[in-house]
Amino acid sequence: MKKIFLAGAIGLLIFSCSKKENTAAVATSSETTSVSEPAPSNLSGDQIMETLDCSGCHSVSERMIGPSYQEIAGKYSEKDIDLLASKIIEGGSGVWGGVPMAAHPQVSKKDAKKMVEYILSQKK
Ligand code: HEC
Repeated sequence: MKKIFLAGAIGLLIFSCSKKENTAAVATSSETTSVSEPAPSNLSGDQIMETLDCSGCHSVSERMIGPSYQEIAGKYSEKDIDLLASKIIEGGSGVWGGVPMAAHPQVSKKDAKKMVEYILSQKK
């Protein structure tokens, strides 16, 4: 009984601490910019992808869990950069099969576009 109470108390403590941190973070970020968009990096498209999990599901020439970059490049063109960038950030499904594409909310739109440009440049 005592143990359960203790665990509960610790849980509450952790919860209230993290809650405070969250509100602090929101307060500071709203001071700097009005939008909560992640900061863009100075890396190139393929470098950004190396820092992310893309290669776990995609490769340049072979279909894995997701379509290969060559397949994607064959299906889309420059005018789809915006659409595909949103897909990388928000995730999506139903275009290549039943498996959904993971969302990457930590990626800025600018970085997502750079990645799409790299993917489209893999066209055979
Ligand atoms: C968990 C596996 C997974 C990860 C991680 C992943 N993808 Fe995907 N991706 C998929 C799948 C599955 C699809 C096909 C989705 C569909 O059918 O709509 C896809 C589709 C795409 C498409 C085409 C979208 C469309 O509508 O045709 C692009 C572009 C893409 N991924 C880029 C990326 C990039 C860039 C990253 C890294 C930031 C990434 N993916 C990480 C699984 C993944």
